[in-house]
Amino acid sequence: MNSGKIGIFDSGVGGLTVVRAVNSLLPGESVVYFGDTARLPYGSKSPETVIRFAIEDAEFLLGKGLKLLVVACNTASSVSLPALREFADVPVIGVIEPGAKAAAGITESGIVGVIGTLGTISSGAYQKALKSFDSVNRVIAQPAPLLVPLVEEGLLDHSITEMILKEYTAPLVNEGIDTLVLGCTHYPLLRDALSGILGEGIRLIDSAESTADEVASILDTEGLSSDFLQGENSFYVSDIPLKFQEIAQRFLGKAVPLVTQIEVGDLH
Ligand code: DGL
Repeated sequence: MNSGKIGIFDSGVGGLTVVRAVNSLLPGESVVYFGDTARLPYGSKSPETVIRFAIEDAEFLLGKGLKLLVVACNTASSVSLPALREFADVPVIGVIEPGAKAAAGITESGIVGVIGTLGTISSGAYQKALKSFDSVNRVIAQPAPLLVPLVEEGLLDHSITEMILKEYTAPLVNEGIDTLVLGCTHYPLLRDALSGILGEGIRLIDSAESTADEVASILDTEGLSSDFLQGENSFYVSDIPLKFQEIAQRFLGKAVPLVTQIEVGDLH
């Protein structure tokens, strides 16, 4: 079982921020990644559709010999975890609980902000997870639907992005947040831009890093950690891989040589 892979899926490239965090924390683990690029975005779709997609994505990855499944999409994590845990025979973790836990551990004022897709914020999953901690008094949640396309286009330090980030974060700043959860897999790439706007007084929580910590902790507790020194990554997508490779390089900070395309109809 220790030689099993860690399966990670997202609607597209965003989950690669989780791959990056897992690779850096657990270099001996092999990761198999699926990006549902043909059906992205999930963030604007109904919970029913997202749950159906998530189950198909998980079925595909489970066929690759997993020891743990990570739902590296905030939107999918916000609605599909109970359904996924019902049929998967391996531990399933999402990105919301780890992100909320990290924010709760760091906030001093107890006023926490969260930004995410419309689907994630509307589900109330972050609000519920954050409020379950005594250290969190208030949660200010803000949908930020324009950020995913800006990241996909690579406009990370563009003036348009700065303007939109200011627009989205102003209400949170006005409410006095001291911690902001980046509740979408794409947002860690906007970390520098956000830090510049928000300053040092507001701490940013990257759910990708907290999720990698959670992966490490589960592997350790369950006795599933790999004995290898260096693991391998493999990548699958549901639409032409060309753009994926280009964007993946930006997300991972290194080239992704081989990406295999899978037809959506063949996922299960
Ligand atoms: N991966 C999604 C998330 O973390 C963002 C992209 C999408 O909307 O599909 O919510």
